[in-house]
Amino acid sequence: MKTPKRLLPLIEDGLVDEVLRQLMSGKEAKVYVVRCGEEIRCAKVYKEANQRSFKQAAAYTEGRKVKNSRQARAMAKGSKYGREVQEEAWQTAEVDALYRLADAGVRVPEPYICFEGVLLMELLTDANGNAAPRLNDVEMSEALALQYHAELIHQVVLMLCAGVVHGDLSEYNILVDAEGPVIIDLPQAVDAAGNNNAAAMLERDVDNLRSYFSQFAPSLAHSQFGKEIWKLYEAGELTPDSVLTGRVKRETRPADVRAVLREVESVRQEEEDRRRYLAELRQQ
Ligand SMILES: Nc1ncnc2c1ncn2[C@@H]1O[C@H](COP(=O)(O)OP(=O)(O)O)[C@@H](O)[C@H]1O
Ligand SMILES: [Mg+2]
Repeated sequence: MKTPKRLLPLIEDGLVDEVLRQLMSGKEAKVYVVRCGEEIRCAKVYKEANQRSFKQAAAYTEGRKVKNSRQARAMAKGSKYGREVQEEAWQTAEVDALYRLADAGVRVPEPYICFEGVLLMELLTDANGNAAPRLNDVEMSEALALQYHAELIHQVVLMLCAGVVHGDLSEYNILVDAEGPVIIDLPQAVDAAGNNNAAAMLERDVDNLRSYFSQFAPSLAHSQFGKEIWKLYEAGELTPDSVLTGRVKRETRPADVRAVLREVESVRQEEEDRRRYLAELRQQ
């Protein structure tokens, strides 16, 4: 096919030899199948900022680090340079997340490079060598739904152990390759420790998995894996081997009202003592 303009810099740089076809035009990006030497790869071209939808919202980027304070100030001011820095930070966020997650053993496409707003990565394929389908296009039985759900919950745990929350996980951002589910589409990934919305986003990601798979496996409908995973993470107890039940214990201990009243009384007493002491000082 005719080389799309945005892929020309990669051809000129020798990163890509040929663009074979367009795979998809998603919400945030266009994805192409490309040839790099002998290898067939996948090139994700990010849309310009003004064509993108919601994912750059403050809720996602909170807590993200930029290289230095000059860049942070420029971003805050919204100057042209600031917007460029922000754009680059957005585009490299996905490749950074992919490297981090691949290192942590999460099933993601292998990243190669992000260059001029294009992410080059492994093309995921099904058993016949065709581009891998999205989860929502795969025929599902109850047994397969239970298996994939369990595998994906494990992937979410591995991600969180690496400090990452996907933030837009659903049946549309999971591909099924010859080996099973693979998580994709991570430019909005959130830093679990540095973002106040991380808990809510993790829960939403996991709820999306529950809603999807419980259509085929009704026994999942009332599971609470999101809450359970976050509770363990918050307590510093989450590991890749954590055994999950999908249930969260409700706080059943009655509140200790007397202990609270004792605490209030002791603070009041302390304040009274402090005032008396100050009054005495003044009289001297
Ligand atoms: N590594 C990949 N291998 C195969 N197909 C991919 C790959 N990455 C993306 N795709 C295809 O491109 C589509 C859009 O990619 P995605 O990363 O989800 O971008 P968007 O932000 O536009 O949703 C996916 O639904 C999938 O069909
Ligand atoms: Mg997507």
